[in-house]
Amino acid sequence: MKIAILREQAAGERRVAGTPETVKKFKALGADIAVEAGAGLTASIADADYIAAGAVVADRAATVADADIILGVQGPDVAGLSGAKPGAWIAAGLNPFSERARVDAYAAAGFEALAMEFMPRITRAQSMDILSSQSNLSGYKAVLDAAAEYGKAFPMMMTAAGTVSAAKAFIMGVGVAGLQAIATARRLGAQVSATDVRAATKEQIESLGAKAIFVEKVAGIEGEGSGGYATEMSDEYKAAQAELVSSHIAKQDIVITTALIPGRPAPRLITDAQIATMKPGSVIVDLAVEQGGNVEGAVAGEVVERHGVKIVGHRNMPSRLATDTSALFSRNLYNFLSAFWDKEKNAPVLDEEIGNAIRLTQGGKVVNERLLTS
Ligand code: NAI
Repeated sequence: MKIAILREQAAGERRVAGTPETVKKFKALGADIAVEAGAGLTASIADADYIAAGAVVADRAATVADADIILGVQGPDVAGLSGAKPGAWIAAGLNPFSERARVDAYAAAGFEALAMEFMPRITRAQSMDILSSQSNLSGYKAVLDAAAEYGKAFPMMMTAAGTVSAAKAFIMGVGVAGLQAIATARRLGAQVSATDVRAATKEQIESLGAKAIFVEKVAGIEGEGSGGYATEMSDEYKAAQAELVSSHIAKQDIVITTALIPGRPAPRLITDAQIATMKPGSVIVDLAVEQGGNVEGAVAGEVVERHGVKIVGHRNMPSRLATDTSALFSRNLYNFLSAFWDKEKNAPVLDEEIGNAIRLTQGGKVVNERLLTS
């Protein structure tokens, strides 16, 4: 059993899908590990650290040669995978809806592609969930980015020269990233409020010491679909939400948006007209910018200014904390493969529930239900 850890090729991707810690753990299971030279450099891991952990460090061709399992943060191009075993697994964040042509290429080349972001949201798979592990740190970093762009302080400070007032931060979308954003903004001393469409989040917001801002008037809406994800809301709800947000947002200094709906473009939460009501110097961070954006005027990869308000649209937020996000991503992959490790075969054997959810291609075909019906 040979597992290959690749050096990421995508522009701006600093993470790596294996660390010396997971190399050691895979070795203990009985696997051989090859790491592409330089794979960990942007996450502050030297080739020597992988070697010390028991990996072989080599060029791309030798890393992939005879590999049974190929690990990546993002999906590798098929062109760089020649020499891998027929039917080899590719386990990575494959972005299946946007990168459909690449998925088709995996099928044509006979690879078994496993999309780690399709991991079902069930208790036993929590430790394998890359969306959670990466979103958590994105939520944290979004607040730090906002603080860096903001020309004032977050906490209230009473000094001999006078009092500095606390920043008001509003978090829109309280999933994994939003919860961490609330906690981080609180730790920095901001006055925090938050909103979501899922009624269940109200208690979570309050338990973190923030104020819950919720649409109360529209009856019969829980906003929660399968797997704890949000559903698309009614027009009536959207109108009530827009009204609520308009009055609240004008008083905010910092707004972090994290709202996503699986398989759909991100919901638009803030319009240009609403931005115009905010104080100059305020900062908005749009964590959904790469999925279409929650904020009108947000530009992926840029910090733009509208009506004196900075709108931060950094791409690939997890990559901005590459050492920690790599460690968690790598553990997600290890937790996944080790949970299914068959000692006699010295290889993982997936069960139906998780296998069917994440497997995109098999036997030369695209086999995933979500992809076939999209
Ligand atoms: P996500 O990244 O899909 O969305 C972020 C947040 O935006 C969600 O809370 C969603 O309700 C909210 N949202 C969507 N549309 C909105 C709108 N129009 N206005 C305001 N907010 C809106 O969600 P994430 O972070 O992946 O988590 C969703 C849920 O799944 C959470 O309850 C989380 O605890 C649960 N979860 C369960 C796991 C497991 O059991 N294995 C693993 C990870 C998360």
